[in-house]
Amino acid sequence: MKFPKEFLWGSDIAASQCEGGWNLDGKTPIASDYGTVGSQSGMRMKTYVDDNGNQGLYPFFATLPSNYHYDMHDNYYYINHNAVDFYHRYKEDIALFGEMGLKTLNLSISWARIFPKGYENGVNKKGVEFYYNVLKECKKYDIEPLVTLHKYDIPVYLEEKFGGWSNRQMIEEFYQFAKVCFKEYKDLVRYWVTFNEINSLAIPSFLPYDLPREVSQNNFSQLHYQLVASAKVVKLAHDINSLNQVGCMFSSLAYYPLTCDPKDVLISQETFRNMCYYTTDVQVRGQYPYYAQNIWNKLGITLDIKQQDERDLLDGKVDFIAFSYYMSNCITVHKVDEDMAKGNLSIGNRNPYLQYSEWDWAMDPDGLKYVLHELYGRYQMPLLIIENGLGATDVLTNDYKIHDVYRIDYLRQHINSMKQAITEGVNVIGYTTWSAIDLVSASSGQITKRYGFIYVDMDDEGNGTFNRYKKDSFYWYKKVIESNGEDL
Ligand code: BG6
Repeated sequence: MKFPKEFLWGSDIAASQCEGGWNLDGKTPIASDYGTVGSQSGMRMKTYVDDNGNQGLYPFFATLPSNYHYDMHDNYYYINHNAVDFYHRYKEDIALFGEMGLKTLNLSISWARIFPKGYENGVNKKGVEFYYNVLKECKKYDIEPLVTLHKYDIPVYLEEKFGGWSNRQMIEEFYQFAKVCFKEYKDLVRYWVTFNEINSLAIPSFLPYDLPREVSQNNFSQLHYQLVASAKVVKLAHDINSLNQVGCMFSSLAYYPLTCDPKDVLISQETFRNMCYYTTDVQVRGQYPYYAQNIWNKLGITLDIKQQDERDLLDGKVDFIAFSYYMSNCITVHKVDEDMAKGNLSIGNRNPYLQYSEWDWAMDPDGLKYVLHELYGRYQMPLLIIENGLGATDVLTNDYKIHDVYRIDYLRQHINSMKQAITEGVNVIGYTTWSAIDLVSASSGQITKRYGFIYVDMDDEGNGTFNRYKKDSFYWYKKVIESNGEDL
């Protein structure tokens, strides 16, 4: 079996995690600019001050209550402020991506650079220019840009003004942002993704925690607005350029029953539906699925769905399905003790058949094949794997080498698994690894949770030269791409 000739071998970066330049050239802050550095087992937090002037820390992925305001504290190092300084070094970095032979680069555009204070206050020309230059640079090396519009980085300005996605007004804000991107980069970009891991808002409601009803209510309302916004911009992208291909993107954690108790089978099936298919069904089919009302009833929530929303959803069906895949999880109705996966973002129970990463994420290449078949069987639509990779501690040797054989093993096994699925008939159009270069971890805020093919010499306190060094995996992936997946 051979990979298709046009197969999009690539890798990923994300604006908030690699650029830095957090307040340069008109950009306003985003939540991660207030993010602390977490650890192997701990998520990062964000720093706030309340109405009475008390400073505190709040869970990074949760919405700040209205009496809390983003605030920088003197005693923290805010790692995203400089990140790995892609903002100043993008030419050097993209040259390395070119040398690796990437056919595509998944990157995101920072909303806060384009519209620092909402669309009514105007476009920031310097922000538009920055991405124009980045995209042109990609083209110079024949790298096809694959652009994600919304990747965990709404301007804090919009969060404070509207309460973020809890407010319907965000649909219009996002629409205007997308319009600028589609028009400005019309000749440079064909592949777009509207929202990164859009299902993230649904996931917390189905974890075994007692989430207050109001949190589910709020998350699902936000999600509805995001789904409508996504559909509207899919249509817009098609109207502006009929060649545009627009995808949805969700976080896919394969869910297995922990035991062969049929109740475990049912709950794992339901979990997949609730956490993943709920959003993909809407984005692919243009309407909420048959089981949506049941979810809303169970959670005791109601959504503000207008007739126009339903029309918008139908008009904005996606062209391909993208998803991230890092790990699988085991679900059970039974009581288990001490078995919960412990790492940040891990959910469910440990799988005795799998190895776990340093961050306790289950490494499961077969799970990727499982997910590919599940998705293709359900939708018969082109699939694109965006984000698959291993976060690990790398060591820079005295002669500036990084022998990351564990990363090569991880990627090789996942590529093999994808290859099997393609052999069996699944239509996969591309594979982009997380990440092209080391960058700041989204959940733990560490740079030392490294994913890249290129090592960046810095630590979690920002010490280091920021020099780039090619890891062993760099040379390996170059060979994989050159041989179109033959030489693994
Ligand atoms: C994905 C996110 O879920 O996981 C990325 O889209 C993130 O932004 C990646 O970086 C890896 O997770 P983490 O938390 O280790 O950075």
